[in-house]
Amino acid sequence: MLRDISDLRKSYQKNSLKEKDLPLNPFSLFDRWFKEVKSNSGNSEVNAMTLSTIDKSGFPKGRIVLLKYYSIDGFIFFTNYNSDKSLSIEINNKVSISFFWEEFERQVIIKGFAEKTSAELSDKYFNSRPKGSKLGALVSEDQSSIIESKEFLIKKFNLLTKDFEGKEIERPENWGGFIINPIEYEFWQGGENRLHDRIRYSLSENLWKIDRLSP
Ligand SMILES: Cc1cc2nc3c(=O)[nH]c(=O)nc-3n(C[C@H](O)[C@H](O)[C@H](O)COP(=O)(O)O)c2cc1C
Repeated sequence: MLRDISDLRKSYQKNSLKEKDLPLNPFSLFDRWFKEVKSNSGNSEVNAMTLSTIDKSGFPKGRIVLLKYYSIDGFIFFTNYNSDKSLSIEINNKVSISFFWEEFERQVIIKGFAEKTSAELSDKYFNSRPKGSKLGALVSEDQSSIIESKEFLIKKFNLLTKDFEGKEIERPENWGGFIINPIEYEFWQGGENRLHDRIRYSLSENLWKIDRLSP
């Protein structure tokens, strides 16, 4: 049966993105938007982003990961280096990350090249995590592989909790960060009557070229 959800419709009118407000470097605009969203979004995970990669058979896959650090040099998330996403990045490090900030009717899509972060940065972030999350990373040492049951995970968690009682947990070698060095940003601001603002910055010979795209 065809479920009819065609009446789910919203009009966008909260904001606009005008040429006069565009900085030369897209990082400044990302930073401005992120800060605005973060300070007005309560508990929602404004740092959740969809990471899209291409696997070895050429299929794209998007999944959510959490942005943990960002700077003009790139956007950093952490994961298991044996996971599907990491294997895809090994084959093809051209990736995309995208954010949807519903309250602000905004989307940002960034394309770039992913590279592993330094061991020092991965250690710094791993060491800052609560013990439960560190144990979780150990339990899920084979992220993305098939497991027999949820029980299997819980047993492993309980065993490791005992093993590490009163002890520090070091970052496993197969867990760490990726940094995405952007070559393109697209900023989307929802507009009335579907006349959305779409501003694309593309890197060309070390300069950011700015274009407005048809919505
Ligand atoms: C809100 C949210 C945050 C997540 N954050 C991360 C993250 O930071 N790192 C990570 O590896 N997986 C994170 N995940 C899980 C991933 O979406 C995904 O299930 C997992 O990384 C395995 O993906 P893969 O098999 O494609 O490699 C998160 C999921 C959600 C819904």
